[in-house]
Amino acid sequence: MKIFVTRQIPDRGPNLLKNKGYEVVVYSEDRTPRKNELIALLKKGVYDAVLCDLDDKIDAEVLDAAGKQCKIFANYAVGFDNIDLKAAQERGIMITNTPGVLTDTVAEHTFALMLAIAHRVAEADRFTRAGKFKEWAPMLLLGHDVSKKTLGVVGLGRIGSRVAHHAVKGFDMKVIYHDVKRNEEFEGEFGAEFRENVDDIFKEADFISLHVPLLPATRHLVDERRLKLMKKIAYLINTSRGPVIDENALVEALKNRVISGAAIDVFENEPALTPGLADLENVILTPHIASATEETRQAMSELAAKNIIEALEGRTPSNLVKP
Ligand code: DGY
Repeated sequence: MKIFVTRQIPDRGPNLLKNKGYEVVVYSEDRTPRKNELIALLKKGVYDAVLCDLDDKIDAEVLDAAGKQCKIFANYAVGFDNIDLKAAQERGIMITNTPGVLTDTVAEHTFALMLAIAHRVAEADRFTRAGKFKEWAPMLLLGHDVSKKTLGVVGLGRIGSRVAHHAVKGFDMKVIYHDVKRNEEFEGEFGAEFRENVDDIFKEADFISLHVPLLPATRHLVDERRLKLMKKIAYLINTSRGPVIDENALVEALKNRVISGAAIDVFENEPALTPGLADLENVILTPHIASATEETRQAMSELAAKNIIEALEGRTPSNLVKP
């Protein structure tokens, strides 16, 4: 069996595949292969499985290039908006993702962003490094508390509910949430309140954290209108997918202090930043690293490899995703 890995990843997964006796070929450059390169490599190599990541656009042409012997594309990510699931299904190619293993890490990063923007940590770091700290001052860099505030969670899946857990257990926050499915058990356990209309989250919350997959229905879920519904003291946190926010509208809202601030790990036109975003003090930007810890990236590597092994051994992979 021959496996193509589109980008170097932590070694646990590739080692598992090699221990099975599979041949593992890793893309030689330290960057995402361009689509025409990927197509050429797949056609040339004749692979039984591909381990790809969220920057690889896996569409009908790429799937065709992989050929009929290719059984699976295992995505090295929980999100799979980079893959045309219908085209894969039509070709009998299985698609898998890596849920669960990154939940805690992404929830931690979400909180890191929330605390950092509310306490102006990045701004204060820049201030201190610039030699501007002359003396302690009662009004210096005032932020806002997180404790006891209202957190609005949009998307109460694995990561959203873990963030809500930390908010309630760690910071005595009140949680309101919106999801396509109401979760009464969660409400009972965490005192969380469901909002059927997502607009109510935007009106009521002091912090809003986005945890929805990127779908036609969630693209630009946060637009100019919803930003204007937010409280002036509110903060927006995004560790889901960039296009969930209309980034031009966000830049305007931050510039005009329609909201207090935003902390985002994902970008609408990743890795490009919308003009003006990086010039603002009231925003924290991290480069899509919410799952980037040694432990989690190894666990993702292992899980992606296990999905491939299951598929190549004729079993249904544990993390099969369907259109
Ligand atoms: C995912 O797994 O979808 C994340 O965005 C990767 O950090």
